[in-house]
Amino acid sequence: MTQTSHAPLAGVMGWPISHSLSPRLHSYWLKENGIDGAYVPLPVSPDNLEHALKALPKLGFRGVNLTVPHKEAAVPFLDHVSDVATRIGAVNTVFVSEDGTLSGTNTDAFGFLENLRRNAPQWSETKGPVVVLGAGGAACAVVAALLDLDVVEIRLLNRTTEKAHALAESLGGPIKIVEWSERGEALDGSTLLVNTTTLGMVGQPRLELSLAALPKSAIVYDLVYAPLETELLSAARSLGLSTVDGLGMLLYQAAPGFEGWFGVQPIVTDGLRDAVLSTP
Ligand code: ATR
Repeated sequence: MTQTSHAPLAGVMGWPISHSLSPRLHSYWLKENGIDGAYVPLPVSPDNLEHALKALPKLGFRGVNLTVPHKEAAVPFLDHVSDVATRIGAVNTVFVSEDGTLSGTNTDAFGFLENLRRNAPQWSETKGPVVVLGAGGAACAVVAALLDLDVVEIRLLNRTTEKAHALAESLGGPIKIVEWSERGEALDGSTLLVNTTTLGMVGQPRLELSLAALPKSAIVYDLVYAPLETELLSAARSLGLSTVDGLGMLLYQAAPGFEGWFGVQPIVTDGLRDAVLSTP
């Protein structure tokens, strides 16, 4: 698609940015919808973040996604921050208003739930406890999403237990902290297991966990998507459990930004998944 001088612009700011799959994802949607627009990777160092954000209206950008290490650091530089982003303490999507002001929100909680609803529609928040592994930024979005559903109990486990306590304190609600060493037992009677840690990711250590205590109806959801079929998901599948992979969360969290910047509600399809996974 050739861009005219009026083409709407958006992009992703990160440092480094070359690893980001977002340009591929949004470019696919632009092409699919026949939109004369562009979504570009923007390498912005932490020192330049404030200036880069403030330049967006002058450069004609409709907005940007933010990725590592800018999600928390950007908050003070925005004119408005949504309730969900304030609660999570991180912004991943910025919209430039007509008057040039910047509004930030966080679509990770939405992406997490939408992916769960689409790929495990049989799961219900009322049926029993949920186990969440990890207490970093991703865990915060996942726990906030689950709390909004009024889940009966969240069993939260993290290698560094104090971080799990801090997360529970900041979000409130029915969160029970369990020691990392008890992770096998914590699965007993739970309806959903979510891995938000980096364990199992390419180049990271394995996630050592026996799934024996999980009920047969439980869902196993891994936020790791490199590799797509993690050891955790393949162990779950071999026990006959339903699984949800992390790529879907990445795709669904991108949709509200695309709709806000380009005015079309995009859809997540197998074609999109293939395009995002294909080697450039
Ligand atoms: P993200 O923003 O993706 O959540 P993060 O904030 O760096 O990334 O969080 C990484 C998570 O993986 C944390 O929960 C981390 O545990 P700690 O808080 O104890 O660091 C977890 N993690 C990373 N390496 C780990 C390991 N070797 N064993 C157990 N947990 C690990």
